[in-house]
Amino acid sequence: MVPVAALGDIVGGDQVLTDPSMVAGYTMDWTGRFVGAHTVVVRPGSTNETAAVVDLCRSAGIAIVPQGGNTGLVGGSVPLNGEIVVSLRRLNAIEAPDVVARSIVVGAGALLADVQAAAAAVGLRYAVDMGSRGSATIGGTIATNAGGLNLLRYGGTREQLLGVEAVLGNGAVVSAMSGLAKDNTGYHLPSLLCGSEGTLGIITAARLRLVPAMPCHATAMVAFESIDAAIAASVRWRHDLADLEALEVMLGDGVQLVATTFSLPSPLTTDHDVVVLVELAATADPYDDLAAAVASVDGVLDAAVATDSTTRSLLWRFRDEHTSAINRIGPPHKFDVTFPIAVLGSAVERVRGVIARARPDAHVWIFGHLGDGNLHVNVTGALSVDDELDDLVLNAVVEMGGSISAEHGIGTAKARHLPWQRSQEELDAMRAVRDALNPDRILNPAVLIP
Ligand code: FAD
Ligand code: MLT
Ligand code: ZN
Repeated sequence: MVPVAALGDIVGGDQVLTDPSMVAGYTMDWTGRFVGAHTVVVRPGSTNETAAVVDLCRSAGIAIVPQGGNTGLVGGSVPLNGEIVVSLRRLNAIEAPDVVARSIVVGAGALLADVQAAAAAVGLRYAVDMGSRGSATIGGTIATNAGGLNLLRYGGTREQLLGVEAVLGNGAVVSAMSGLAKDNTGYHLPSLLCGSEGTLGIITAARLRLVPAMPCHATAMVAFESIDAAIAASVRWRHDLADLEALEVMLGDGVQLVATTFSLPSPLTTDHDVVVLVELAATADPYDDLAAAVASVDGVLDAAVATDSTTRSLLWRFRDEHTSAINRIGPPHKFDVTFPIAVLGSAVERVRGVIARARPDAHVWIFGHLGDGNLHVNVTGALSVDDELDDLVLNAVVEMGGSISAEHGIGTAKARHLPWQRSQEELDAMRAVRDALNPDRILNPAVLIP
């Protein structure tokens, strides 16, 4: 029995949700692919309240799923096995940025877009960005080590982390928030918590690195004659362009789907099979550099270049809205995989072939972060949970030297496949860390290493 009254004594009775209509949004993931049973949702308002909730759940033997914006895509943020949900969304305070140290302290429940806006207001930038910016929380992005659109220039979430405050699974509160540029004093707990997917602790606050905001942007949508030509161009641009900010790939069917779903005008003169979105950001107008870069590579069929913010937004909508447009067809089966750049072109064909043979009636949508070798492979017209398809696709990924999770994490969706990627010794080390910090396994027991 969940001790609802005792939880209410900690966080306030109105912050313990039991009414099915209030709880429903916390039990189903963003895609509708993972749906948990009705449960209790607890919404602490401080780190101390979070610690008290963890203590109570430990003594009552109740498992917890920590939840931020619930935009995670691997079934890690919803209660699939009778857990309660601890929602961190109330911890959404954002302190004034420290412009000298170039950092910002935020609560775990702060939205990514709000943190970006706070940094922009003082001429700085939080360098993690992605389509879910309006709903994903900082705590969730840390827990998943989110990648996103600008990793090739600034690194992922782990590279932005100067400090973290968290309630560990053993009830201890750790707070490493000094934010010193150099601090070589043992294990770096922020790095450990980053990507731990809620299995070691509940993140309640963080200190994040900020970078100078680049005032000038040039963005191009470039159509290529083949995926191999696009990959060759991406290799060249990554080498040549110091101001390269983003390098994304879309295929013709996805571009058309977004255009139709959201009634967007096509920026290109005709439909193309392979489209790359490339962006430069700099202190001076990078338009000439971008135009020269597009002219310098082979296989370009068409290009639309944006320098004003309206056109730039339109080009980005084609990329950002892929996830929403595909989801409107119905909950897709999602793969988030990376490959070494040398095999990326053949990986597209191999993965497509594997899925076509196994599920001939399905549609395969491919897009992703070309600069990182990260493909998002979405399958519609088949089951959104399909163990056999998982095995076939992820086996091909591992055989080609790729990773079964590029940036979304393992969650519950890929926990079965983690041993395909990690050695027994690595898994033993991970379990030892998990069992030390989360000894009763009350935090996300079904996630990552069940
Ligand atoms: P949730 O979904 O709530 O949780 C995710 C995981 O973190 C769960 O295991 C949960 O238990 C744990 N967790 C959440 N908060 C905490 C906390 N405070 N302490 C401890 N554990 C916690 N991801 C990318 O990497 N790159 C992208 O480009 C990208 N684009 C996206 C675009 C769209 C449209 C959508 C819907 C998703 C996208 N995602 C992307 C996936 C998702 O947004 C990220 O995984 C994000 O980091 C999740 O944040 P969240 O707050 O929604 O976390
Ligand atoms: C993206 O890059 O758009 C995402 O990671 C979301 C997805 O895979 O659908
Ligand atoms: Zn992505």
